[in-house]
Amino acid sequence: MELNTQHIPVMVKEVEELLALKPGALVVDGTLGLGGHALMMATAVGAGGRLIGIDQDEAAILKAKERLKAVVARVDIVKSNFSRMNEVLDGLGIKEVDAFLFDVGVSSMQIDMGERGFSFREDGPLDMRMDPSEKISAFDLVNDLSEKELARILFEYGEERFSSRIASVIVRTRAARQIKTTKELADLISGAVPRGYDHARIHPATRSFQALRVAVNHELDALSTGIKQAFERLKKNGRMCVISFHSLEDRIVKDMFRELDREGRAKILTKKPLRPSDEEASANSRARSARLRALERIQ
Ligand SMILES: C[S@@+](CC[C@H](N)C(=O)[O-])C[C@H]1O[C@@H](n2cnc3c(N)ncnc32)[C@H](O)[C@@H]1O
Repeated sequence: MELNTQHIPVMVKEVEELLALKPGALVVDGTLGLGGHALMMATAVGAGGRLIGIDQDEAAILKAKERLKAVVARVDIVKSNFSRMNEVLDGLGIKEVDAFLFDVGVSSMQIDMGERGFSFREDGPLDMRMDPSEKISAFDLVNDLSEKELARILFEYGEERFSSRIASVIVRTRAARQIKTTKELADLISGAVPRGYDHARIHPATRSFQALRVAVNHELDALSTGIKQAFERLKKNGRMCVISFHSLEDRIVKDMFRELDREGRAKILTKKPLRPSDEEASANSRARSARLRALERIQ
């Protein structure tokens, strides 16, 4: 199938305004993806500026490099997890940064590549690793975790009401055979939940797939570690934007930003998270659940 190699960046104008990038600035995109936001950032900092792009997915990096080929700013791209921000910046000899962006979650490209196993709409191996060199995949979680632990993950990371039923069906099924593909898992989940699940607003597997992805990639821990380390590297008056796509992530960002604000170290620039305009939400379905929060370091 034709891959979506032009992942449409979400809320670019809003990020541009909030980051208020100046020519010559040193900026970090912690989730380079296909380089849409990075292109805007590199263009804004211009010839005297520098962009550091980080992604844990080699496939995304290859696409981003292509997209950033023509920019005049200095560009360094690093394959790493943004939770290792200190290591990445130390490796480049960078102490302080003018602006950070984190646009967390998966890219359209990762979803569209059936073989990466993120999507119940594309059949593929149960994988979901953003960094395919990591050891544990969704296959391991689904086939090895205890029923209790599976139910906990589905409930906590997917806010799935039917977590116990789904975990029980998974465990019963795998007693007879391993569960190997995204389609097998999606079918099991569809069979485990009541008819009319969530009034058919979303596919019955949506929340469980989200939960497994979050667990496989340790997304919530990575987010809080990444924000913490990034904030310590931010210059005074430097800014940080975080775009998240589900409530658990947004809660982490909100709480961390509030704490920094309470300590008098940061000023929150978005009292409430910004949401995409109606126009953007109808043009790009992935943007619909986006929430953007920003802060400025003041101390
Ligand atoms: C929503 S996409 C970013 C899209 C990008 N802003 C653009 O305009 O193309 C998220 C990207 O972040 C990467 N990612 C997610 N969590 C990460 C982490 N903890 N460390 C490094 N990269 C991460 C994913 O591999 C994916 O490529």
